[in-house]
Amino acid sequence: IEETADAVAEYAARYVRRKINDFSPSEERYFVLGLPTGSTPLGMYRKLIQFHRAGTLSFKYVKTFNMDEYVGLPRDHPESYHTFMHHNLFRHIDIDPRNVHILDGNAADLKKECDGYEASIKAAGGIHLFIGGIGPDGHIAFNEPGSSLSSRTRIKTLNADTIQANARFFDNDLSKVPTQALTVGVATVMDAEEVMILITGAHKALALHKAIEEGVSHMWTVSAFQMHPTTLFIADEEATLEL
Ligand code: GLP
Repeated sequence: IEETADAVAEYAARYVRRKINDFSPSEERYFVLGLPTGSTPLGMYRKLIQFHRAGTLSFKYVKTFNMDEYVGLPRDHPESYHTFMHHNLFRHIDIDPRNVHILDGNAADLKKECDGYEASIKAAGGIHLFIGGIGPDGHIAFNEPGSSLSSRTRIKTLNADTIQANARFFDNDLSKVPTQALTVGVATVMDAEEVMILITGAHKALALHKAIEEGVSHMWTVSAFQMHPTTLFIADEEATLEL
């Protein structure tokens, strides 16, 4: 627990830097990161960029896999997760674009795209550190309440709460928010060697309580990480109001 959202970002970025540097990645041994979108990780991304500029962190031998992407939104749409990642992280660091993986929500065969994504993660040797945010309803990536806890990368229809929460990015116009997304499954994230979940703000307090103080439930998919050997929740004071 950190006092503020900014302190959460600082802690998370330092943690990521330490993990990558301790691993000392090379051409033969890439560090594999799972990455989230959303407003929560923005502060962490800003700090990772600062570390890169200060010369204390390189992404030269890092591979990344993003959690999710909207279906049907053009790749260059300002709210696509491709645009988000490029704008908020990738264009500012020394990562090789060939090492960046983001699901293609415009693929002709979406099922094939999802199966191929799982295969690429496997081919990369699995994920060392998966970083996630959560929705106020406790969803991780786009694993909405009711998702199977053994789910893999697949197409999901977004529920009304998530569409409502994301409307702020689409001129507050519900009809503009995509209704489907491709997302890694709960089990895809559970397979990572280590998981780090960032939770900030009073509107996430109930989700944090459900995540760690009640039983594992597919209605709060983030609660699955109680079963993961090395998951770190980093929360600000506000998010702990229900603990
Ligand atoms: C979306 C994303 C999630 C993210 C969530 C919370 O649903 N698919 O990965 O965790 O938003 O976003 P925010 O961090 O803006 O609250």
